[in-house]
Amino acid sequence: MTNQVKIFDTTLRDGEQAPGFSMTAGQKLRMAEALEALKVDVMEAGFAAASQGDFDAIKSIAETVKDSTVASLARCNEGDIRASGEAIKPATKRGSGRGRIHTFIATSPLHREFKLKMSKDEIVRRAVAGVELARDYTDDVEFSCEDAIRTERDYLKRVVEAAIKAGATTINIPDTVGYTTPEEIQNLFEFLTTEIEGGDGVIFSAHCHDDLGLAVANSLAAVRGGARQVECALNGIGERAGNCALEEVVMALRTRKDFFQLATRVETQGIYAASKLLATITGNPVPRNKAIVGKNAFAHESGIHQHGVLANRETYEIMRPEDVGVSTDNLVLGKHSGRAALKSRAEKLGFTLADNQLASVFTAFKTLADDKKEVFDSDIEALILGEAVGTQGPWVINSLYVSAGSDDNREPEAIVRLSHEDGRTETHVSRAKGPMNAVFAAISEIAKIPMELEHYAVSSVSGGEDAMAEATVRVATEFETYQGRGADTDTVLASALAYLDVINRIERRQVRERAISAQH
Ligand code: KIV
Ligand code: ZN
Repeated sequence: MTNQVKIFDTTLRDGEQAPGFSMTAGQKLRMAEALEALKVDVMEAGFAAASQGDFDAIKSIAETVKDSTVASLARCNEGDIRASGEAIKPATKRGSGRGRIHTFIATSPLHREFKLKMSKDEIVRRAVAGVELARDYTDDVEFSCEDAIRTERDYLKRVVEAAIKAGATTINIPDTVGYTTPEEIQNLFEFLTTEIEGGDGVIFSAHCHDDLGLAVANSLAAVRGGARQVECALNGIGERAGNCALEEVVMALRTRKDFFQLATRVETQGIYAASKLLATITGNPVPRNKAIVGKNAFAHESGIHQHGVLANRETYEIMRPEDVGVSTDNLVLGKHSGRAALKSRAEKLGFTLADNQLASVFTAFKTLADDKKEVFDSDIEALILGEAVGTQGPWVINSLYVSAGSDDNREPEAIVRLSHEDGRTETHVSRAKGPMNAVFAAISEIAKIPMELEHYAVSSVSGGEDAMAEATVRVATEFETYQGRGADTDTVLASALAYLDVINRIERRQVRERAISAQH
C-alpha cells in the first residue's frame, strides 16, 4: 500500500453548500487557484446539476486549473452525470490534470426507506448504471455510498463491489451525519481494504462530518485503517458542523510523520493565506482558537510559555508558524518599493497573484504607501484580501461624508452616495445617535434591505498612528446571519465598506436564488 495520502478538497462543494458560505463564480475560481497552489490532489468544484451558475463555475475551474484534478458531484442519475461530464470536460480533454465525476447514492436503511424509497437491489442497479455512464465521460470515477457508516456491512460490501466492477476507481465512505468513532471507522476501513473483491485496484476514501467534533480524528483513523484519500475542507467548512478540516488533517500527518509514516503533497506554507482568503471571501472569520489557522494558534501570551519559547521554541511549539505560512518577520515596504518587491512579499505570505490581481493590489499599495510611512506584512495581507472581495458589487461607494460630535442640538449626520452595477446612483442623508449608525442607516436605506446589526468591531491591522483599520460587521436578516469586512486607513470608510460587503452578499444571494428558482 502506498504511503501517499491524496487530499480531496471539498471547500467549493460541501463547504460552499453550507448556509452562509456561498461564493460567486469569480470567488470560487479565486479559491480554486489558491487550492491548486496548495497542491491539493483533487478539488471538488461543485455540483454541476444544481444550477447553471454552479455548472459555469465548475467549467471555468476545469479550464483554469492545471495541476489538481477537478471533480463535479452527481447523484446516480442520468441528468446529474451528464451535467458533471460536460462541466469537467476541459480538464478531461487536457490530458495533464484530470476531470473526475463523483457520483453517489445513499445506502443506509433509513435513507433507503424514507428518502429514496428504493429496494436494496434497485440501489445497486442505480449505482452500477451511474458509474458506467460516468465512465463514458472520464476514466476517473469516484463512487460514494451516502451514509455509509450507518449501512449494514454486508450490503455496503455488495454495493462497493458492484461499483468497482462497473468501473469506479475511488470508493468513498462518507460519515454523512458525523456519527462514527475513530475505533469504529478504522475497523471498517480495515474490513473494506482487505475483504472487498477488486479492492486492490481502487483507492478507498474517507469523508467525515464534524457533528460530534470527531471529523479529523475519524479521518486519521480511517487512514490508519487503509484509506488513501481524505476528503476535507479549508477551515473545516461544510454541511452543519462542517467537514474534516484540511489544515488539521494535513498538519497532523506531517507533524506526526513518525507515527503515521504517511505523506501528502500539500504545500503547507500556503495554508494560512488560503484560510484567510476563504474567511474573507465568505465573510466568516476563523475563530481565534482554531487549530493551525486561528490567530492564537501560535501566540504565546502567558509569561511561563513565553519564557520556555524564548529558551527553546520546541518547549511549547510542535509546529513552526512558518510551516503553515504564518509570517513572523513583518518586513516593511515603503512608497519606493516596486511591483517585484510587492509580488515577492505576497508570495512569502502565501498568496500567488495573477498579473491582473498584482496590478490592482499594487495600485492599492501605492495609495496606501502615500498615506502611510511604512507598509507592513499585515497591511499587504489586508490589501490582497480586500482585492479578492473588493470588486464584487453590485453596490460601490461613490462618496461618504459624516459629521459627529456631542452637540445636544444636532445629531451626527451621514451623506452617502452609492452606485449600482445596473447604472443607478443614489444619495441618502441619515441622522442617528452615532456617526456609524448614521452611515449604516443611509446605506440600508439606499439598498432597501432590512437587517439588524448584531456585531460591529474595528481593529488596527498594523501599528502606528497611520495604521490601516479593519472593520467587521455581523448582521441578521429575517432568514440568515451575514458577516462583512472592510479595510482602509479611514476607519469610517472601512466600516462602511464592511457594511456594504454584507449588503452585496445579500443581493448576490437573492439574484442567485432567483436564477435557481427560474430554472426549476
Ligand atoms: O456527506 C456526504 O455524504 C456527502 C456525499 C455527497 C459524498 O457529502
Ligand atoms: Zn458531506
